[in-house]
Amino acid sequence: MSVAPFLSLDYQHRSIERELKQAFYRTLERGKFILGKEVDHFEKEFAAYHKSKYCISVANGHDALLISLKALGIDKGDEVIVPSHTCQATWLAVMNAGAKPVPVEVDPSTYTIDSLLIENSLTRKTKAIIPVHLYGHPCEMDKIMAIAKKNNLFVIEDNAQAHGATFKNKMTGSWGHCNATSFYPTKNLGALGDGGAIITSNKKLCDFARAFRNYGSEKKDVHSIPGVNSRLDELQAAILQIKLRMLDEWNETRRRTSNLYFGLLQNIGDIQLPPRENRETKPVYHQFVIQTSLREKLQAFLSKKGIETAVHYPIPIHLQKTYSYLRYKKGNLPVAERLAGKVLSLPVWPGLKKDQVEIVCSAVRKFFA
Ligand SMILES: Cc1ncc(COP(=O)(O)O)c(C=O)c1O
Repeated sequence: MSVAPFLSLDYQHRSIERELKQAFYRTLERGKFILGKEVDHFEKEFAAYHKSKYCISVANGHDALLISLKALGIDKGDEVIVPSHTCQATWLAVMNAGAKPVPVEVDPSTYTIDSLLIENSLTRKTKAIIPVHLYGHPCEMDKIMAIAKKNNLFVIEDNAQAHGATFKNKMTGSWGHCNATSFYPTKNLGALGDGGAIITSNKKLCDFARAFRNYGSEKKDVHSIPGVNSRLDELQAAILQIKLRMLDEWNETRRRTSNLYFGLLQNIGDIQLPPRENRETKPVYHQFVIQTSLREKLQAFLSKKGIETAVHYPIPIHLQKTYSYLRYKKGNLPVAERLAGKVLSLPVWPGLKKDQVEIVCSAVRKFFA
């Protein structure tokens, strides 16, 4: 039996079970399941949470990125800067928009794109930068926005892993021109199925995205652009409204768990801990990711003791077959390659108990002893 599961959503769902059931019956009784009141309310609340003007909900995080790229006019022949180490959906959305993903190495101590390296990778074809707030750690958004302004580029934040994080007191997902997020069930704000959203304060981008997600329809029966079907359904929107009210509290529990880890995992073997909250960044620890050159052995040791862990992500994106057309070889992106071999995500979910964290930490200490 698992003494520390990698993830459990039970605690979250049990604490709001009554509201979830009410949302289900309310939606069932209303009998409207696509683009109705629930979607409308959720979009308003999620935009307000970001202190942004508009939220356009969509079917998933990949589509949120893809539609953002389309809204900004990014197309065949364009280049888009992406981090070398991220969830592969970030690169895939660029590829599916017809553009070329151009990776820039991440800072291995923060897991986010190294803003000092971005300008070296710009060409005449570069149109946008997609910073990813990976594992819940905010990117240096002030520097990235300044680079974009100087070079006339768009910024699309990928905020799928950082709902509720801030950089310099401003929400991640509200800095860029058009920002994308995912409500995949395991995210800090997760639906009970797929879901995603775009956040922007630009009316033109909002209008485009609203039409694009719904077959390119500006208003009923009028179609002006070749869009797709990428809509969040009413049931998910009703559920997300309830979970959004809990997000800050649940993020706080992730921070408390992370602080326990920081205290108990000091000076063990070659373990490198993730960045801590500081004057500028307030992370939301979507994952608590440590690094060690003994990753495989440590993971197997913990597993034997009933402690589940995960690896995000074991194969560097540039070495995946999907991107072979970009002709990257082993050695081309050494930081991403090193991270793929060293990162290990420890359990960090709302409801994880103090003694479970202590069990994880004493097992880690035992392994290195
Ligand atoms: C950083 C990042 N970007 C994009 C996505 C894509 O989201 P989805 O799975 O909803 O398409 C995810 C989640 O899987 C993610 O973690």
